Amino acid sequence: MRDTADPLDLLHWYDANARDLPWRVSPGARASGVIPDPYRIWLSEVMLQQTTVAAVRTYFERFTTLWPSVTDLAAAEDGQVMGEWAGLGYYARARNLLKCARAVVADHGGVFPVTREGLLGLPGIGPYTAAAISAIAYDLPEVVVDGNVERVMARVHDIHTPLPTAKPELTRAAAALTPEARAGDYAQAVMDLGATICTPKSPACGICPWLSACAARAAGTQAELPRKLAK
Ligand code: ADE
Repeated sequence: MRDTADPLDLLHWYDANARDLPWRVSPGARASGVIPDPYRIWLSEVMLQQTTVAAVRTYFERFTTLWPSVTDLAAAEDGQVMGEWAGLGYYARARNLLKCARAVVADHGGVFPVTREGLLGLPGIGPYTAAAISAIAYDLPEVVVDGNVERVMARVHDIHTPLPTAKPELTRAAAALTPEARAGDYAQAVMDLGATICTPKSPACGICPWLSACAARAAGTQAELPRKLAK
């Protein structure tokens, strides 16, 4: 009998293997009460849309050195922000970044809203980013689904429905596994698993914390998943 995927096994793996990323609070620090800054989580998530972690790192360090808080960013010159963004691409993101920072200052007293509705009301924040900020910064049990999470869910449950049709099914699977406790660490743990072990090509199943629970691995289909509708 296969085991069922246990979020605690993934959290245990994350405690030892979390990537050291500049916007991240280490699992140990969070356990002793250090709270991630929503501004840094928001900025990293906007930068990470369509851009790799490796490329984002230096931009993130530069932005947070120039503008350590959302109030600082809101007061920046448009031209300087666009200039610093150069190279990251998708410039609509940078324009929304400034609009969002200014809305947080003008409408929320410089504090990111805590509710999903409040976050969704801000420029450039859609369901994914709202869920990521709620989970990672506020530790709320929101379901965070990006490409990494879709791949992990498709494999753990051996789901062969192609994307994008499979999205609701994969989101339900992700929701069912999201724990009430340590939701922020869990969200980041699934992303790290997808980025470092459950990779698109040649996944490192031998060292996966969910190896004994993975239906695709048992069936030998992991390399074929997730399926995608032919373009
Ligand atoms: N990709 C997008 N957001 C991420 C995060 N918070 N941690 C790791 N990878 C990510």
